[in-house]
Amino acid sequence: MNELLEIRQLNGFYKKKQVLTGIDLSIAPGEIVGLVGESGSGKSSLAKAILHAGIRTEGEIRLTGKAQMIFQDTYHSLNPAMTVGRIMEEPLLIEGRLTKEERKQRVRDMMGHVELDLTLKDRYPSELSGGQRQRVCIGTALLNDPKLLIADEPVSALDVTVQAKVLQLLDRLNAQDGITLLFISHDLRVVYELCNRILIMKDGRIIEQGSDEEVFMHPKEPYTKKLLSAIM
Ligand SMILES: Nc1ncnc2c1ncn2[C@@H]1O[C@H](COP(=O)(O)OP(=O)(O)O)[C@@H](O)[C@H]1O
Ligand SMILES: [Mg+2]
Repeated sequence: MNELLEIRQLNGFYKKKQVLTGIDLSIAPGEIVGLVGESGSGKSSLAKAILHAGIRTEGEIRLTGKAQMIFQDTYHSLNPAMTVGRIMEEPLLIEGRLTKEERKQRVRDMMGHVELDLTLKDRYPSELSGGQRQRVCIGTALLNDPKLLIADEPVSALDVTVQAKVLQLLDRLNAQDGITLLFISHDLRVVYELCNRILIMKDGRIIEQGSDEEVFMHPKEPYTKKLLSAIM
């Protein structure tokens, strides 16, 4: 098996309440997989299960390498008391392998990589635009050296033009760096643009999956057809 992530018969619970049921899925290295479903269907809970954080699970989750997550709410994802440079340096500090000069250089390189102007290094999150903050989140996540990046509604709070640019960035990181993406969205349109494969989630289950073409052109489930009709 050369899958990056393999999930078998996963159930997820908050206290006694079951919110994930019988999830089976595999993600291969280099894929961009879209996870779609309406609010409350369990998308974020599945992400939490993969990170083993904040949800009790049964079943099997096998992940090769590290996963990192980025969120819709970039403001609360970033420490407001730290500058951008300091925020991005944090994972390298924790890792503790590089000298101060090497860390500064890695942060500068990463800022370039995620297309952040270097002059933003000494700014605070509150002084940045939403798009710039999401780039800081993405760069910081990448400095943790993940194999899988889970993006939970990463562009849902952004203007359409800014959305398009952040999606381009994620696409480029996949193509250039080979980063594997699990892209969570309630917006099928965005998912169709970016993803090679689509999972449809409803009431804690994955009810349909296939290539972007299959799911878009030949949806099987009435629920998927309903999601599609909402954007046509
Ligand atoms: N921390 C929590 N405690 C209890 N119930 C939760 C918690 N987080 C989410 N839920 C419930 O779990 C279900 C799935 O939520 P969630 O995974 O956030 O869905 P989505 O991300 O698709 O909107 C919903 O019914 C939600 O109310
Ligand atoms: Mg969610």
